[in-house]
Amino acid sequence: MINSRLKKLTPQFKNILKISSKIAKKSGYNIYLVGGVVRDLLLNRPVFDLDIVVEGDAILFVKRLAGCLGQSFRKHHSFGTATLYHDNHKIDFATARQEKYQHHGALPKVQPSCLEKDLARRDFSINAMAISLNKESYGQLIDFYGGRRDLKNGLIRILYPESFLDDSLRILRALRFEQRFSFRIEAKTFLLMEKAIKSGALKFVHSHRLRNELILFLNEPKPYKYIKRLYSLENLNFIDESIKLNKKDFRFFIRAESALKFYKKKFKENNEIKSWLVYLAGILLHLSDEKYLEVVNRFGFRKDQRDTISSIKKNLGKIRKLDYKKKNSEIYKILKNYSPEALVFFYAYFPKKNLRKNIRLFLEVLSQQKLKVKGKDLKKIGIQSSSFMGEILKELFYRKLDKGLEAKGEELREAKEVIQNKQSLKR
Ligand code: CTP
Repeated sequence: MINSRLKKLTPQFKNILKISSKIAKKSGYNIYLVGGVVRDLLLNRPVFDLDIVVEGDAILFVKRLAGCLGQSFRKHHSFGTATLYHDNHKIDFATARQEKYQHHGALPKVQPSCLEKDLARRDFSINAMAISLNKESYGQLIDFYGGRRDLKNGLIRILYPESFLDDSLRILRALRFEQRFSFRIEAKTFLLMEKAIKSGALKFVHSHRLRNELILFLNEPKPYKYIKRLYSLENLNFIDESIKLNKKDFRFFIRAESALKFYKKKFKENNEIKSWLVYLAGILLHLSDEKYLEVVNRFGFRKDQRDTISSIKKNLGKIRKLDYKKKNSEIYKILKNYSPEALVFFYAYFPKKNLRKNIRLFLEVLSQQKLKVKGKDLKKIGIQSSSFMGEILKELFYRKLDKGLEAKGEELREAKEVIQNKQSLKR
């Protein structure tokens, strides 16, 4: 049964696993597929990256495997792990290890160990299963902690009572899996999670780990439910204690879901849109400038990401003016400098019909327009100065938007008129 799930992996993945299995045998190592991959295979969900635990030296193992495949790999000596890249996917290999926490929230002391102990240190039973990749038991499920039963019953359960204190990021992970799979957090786990939240445990998690988790959960397909759940339990204090969300904000999160859906469908080629940034801007919208700067610096967001959020926060007033009748060129001038995330934000934020129509017009039509007349065409009719040429092309572009000029001949005629106007003004 598990074997049939393994068969669903891509031919390349299957090939790498088979070769890995042979090398493991030769090296006297045991290797296992572990963690989220096993969970997703059992749930029949797509699998993108693989995690493999090696009872033995993972770096040495990957060196042999990469040699066999004629591929390069990346090693991380301090963690005893190595990564093999294949197409757009990665396969992480780690030496089986056990962890001891000196005190809660501290970095754990790590030492090589066996699969059973490696699985015991993990977050939830559903993430603590393995599939053997060893010749004699290839494809067999290994489930020491009742992961399969919990998966069937839709339960998220920690493996030991201090789990949320040892690594409090697990609070956010539990809620992410709860929402993603529509699972329940098992009763005792929930009590311990609430206790950890009340003790302020999330404050001890490194801000960059919190940021990465924040991005992950805001990138889930329907983050509205998740934000609501997290807000009811934790108030988003881990971001900032002064965050206050109201009904209007929650309505925005719902509208953002459909705005993003519309954008992704319409502009399939722009898969790069960062959904999480749209939601994050909504979460940080009411923070004072001072608090906002403190948060984005603490989390270490990139400059372009910070710029998108700031531009949203600063320009809501300007965008509101788009509710009035405007010429196409005016709409273009107002919206041309915003990132796709900011445009989607505005589209979702303002319920006003006219305003939304204008943003849509910009996205679907105006921003796609290009002049057919180029600089060389203007040269032919005697325009030499490049700054003057720039001025004419800009004016011509606005006229094209306002008058709906299509053919190159139409544009050229208009260009001549623009030139005449500008020259007579200069005289
Ligand atoms: N893990 C853990 N505690 C954490 C993070 C991860 O125990 N704080 C373990 C879990 O066994 C998890 C595995 O490491 O399954 C891999 O972690 P990660 O890749 O972050 O998550 P996945 O479970 O694979 O989930 P996702 O689908 O979000 O990638």
